[in-house]
Amino acid sequence: MVLKQKTLDLKRRMRHAVQGGGEKAIQKQKAIGKLTARERILTLLDPNTFHEYDLFVEHAAKDFDMDKKQLPGDGVVTGTGMISGHPICIYAQDFTVAGGSLGLMHAKKIVKIMDHAMRLKIPLIGINDSGGARIQEGVNSLAGYGEIFYRNTQASGVIPQISVILGPCAGGAVYSPALTDFVFVVDKISKMFITGPEVIKATIGEEISMEDLGGARVHSEITGNAHFYAESEQQCFDQIKQLIGYIPWNNAKKADPFPKKTPKTRLYKIDTIIPTDPKTPYDVRDVIRSIVDDSEFLEIMELFASNIVIGFARIKGDTVGFVANQPMVLAGVLDVDSSDKAARFIRYCDSFNIPLVTLVDLPGYLPGVDQEHSGVIRHGAKVLYAYSEATVPKLTVILRKAYGGGYIAMCSHHLKADFVCAWPTAEIAVMGPEGAANIIFRNEIKNAENPDEVRKQKIKEYKQKFANPYVAAAYGYVDAVIDPAETRKVLIHALEITKHKHVKPPAKKHGLPPF
Ligand code: HXC
Repeated sequence: MVLKQKTLDLKRRMRHAVQGGGEKAIQKQKAIGKLTARERILTLLDPNTFHEYDLFVEHAAKDFDMDKKQLPGDGVVTGTGMISGHPICIYAQDFTVAGGSLGLMHAKKIVKIMDHAMRLKIPLIGINDSGGARIQEGVNSLAGYGEIFYRNTQASGVIPQISVILGPCAGGAVYSPALTDFVFVVDKISKMFITGPEVIKATIGEEISMEDLGGARVHSEITGNAHFYAESEQQCFDQIKQLIGYIPWNNAKKADPFPKKTPKTRLYKIDTIIPTDPKTPYDVRDVIRSIVDDSEFLEIMELFASNIVIGFARIKGDTVGFVANQPMVLAGVLDVDSSDKAARFIRYCDSFNIPLVTLVDLPGYLPGVDQEHSGVIRHGAKVLYAYSEATVPKLTVILRKAYGGGYIAMCSHHLKADFVCAWPTAEIAVMGPEGAANIIFRNEIKNAENPDEVRKQKIKEYKQKFANPYVAAAYGYVDAVIDPAETRKVLIHALEITKHKHVKPPAKKHGLPPF
């Protein structure tokens, strides 16, 4: 009898706690197209796998009448669960409870689940929907953020950390997502900024809406803070599930292999993707799809710095990370943003044992005052650093242009690629034929009776001599020139051969990448 009563009491307490901020606050949340924190967790996880922690945690604040307020779960839901059979730790801020604001106990719940993820060496997913530091709790809120940032940094490169922005994420709170590996945003729902529109207006007089300042599209297209953009929360959860399928649980594991499926070669004909005119653009993602299992490619940061393409796919069942110049956008040049994008992804793959496949077709680094003054030297160096530092298998396919610094940066042999091959369409040279002829034959062209005719002749000569893969192949800088139709076969072999690659980097505490 006593047990029965106690169990009923437990159930009553649980029912109360899971109501969060109550019906009115929940309806406000729904009216703007948002799910509640618990609904989000239950939608994302495999059915019946969520185990909640700390449901009965209460806030500990006293000032500003806080001692008279009850905040169920202190505004955050935490626990463990499974996604497609993969174990994960998760937290979701509950905006219906004091705007999901972060106080001492709220932070302690997050920190506990982060520590748990690190102990178990499984991925951590954080769903952010919060008004930021709980104003009434003062320095305790700030301390909470500090503890979270420290753990984000310690966990970096050890377990995958995924941030999902499903509401406001304002002020210093943005730095937790910024320290994690992948940030997911949803149109009209996600809002991230350091200082909001009101503060901006008051301090420097600029007027801007929250959406235009830090909405999902802004962070996907302009700032590069977000890695995945979705139209709805459901689409966002589907993207997370896809990503979890490609990555390993921690840095000591490899991603789960999937059953091998051959590419859809009827849709993606590798021999005909590259146009005969070397200046005509094409979509490098078609090359990727023509090589990988089931032609499935999970692109990351699709809307930002699209002159480079990054993402995951599988080759013969195993995850690989692709880095590819995109000739459709700015001819695939490296610039400040595309260098940042590529370098970070290379480091991710290297941290988590994911082999890198690089597809090269670029005229070099983007020239211009804007790029120089934006620090293209420092940012461009990140690509060199990331490739040189990476010890996972590194395979490179030169599709067409590989000019100048771009040739070196895109995982050349000189940065210790394990295997570099080129298609017969490859052109490996210091620069393009037009530019080269104009410089080295300047006097001959200037003094000729018919300068245009001589220029054309010299460009032709240069093309014949250098615009091919055979000069590089003659020096052994390219290991093989291959028939494009053989690319998948060649990569499968190279991945097999490099499977047990082990490189011991020189002893040091850490290097100094050009941050
Ligand atoms: C305490 C907060 C809160 C906060 C919201 N609430 N933010 N309570 N601390 N930071 C409460 C509100 O008082 C309200 O309580 C409930 O949450 C819902 O908030 P609304 O304002 O009604 O919601 P909405 O209109 O949707 O506006 C959402 C919002 C706004 C844009 C996020 O609440 C807002 O501007 N909040 C303050 C944002 C901010 O400046 N945070 C501090 C950032 S500094 P009731 O009881 O009325 O329902 C920071 C420093 C961290 O975070 C530094 C780390 C390094």
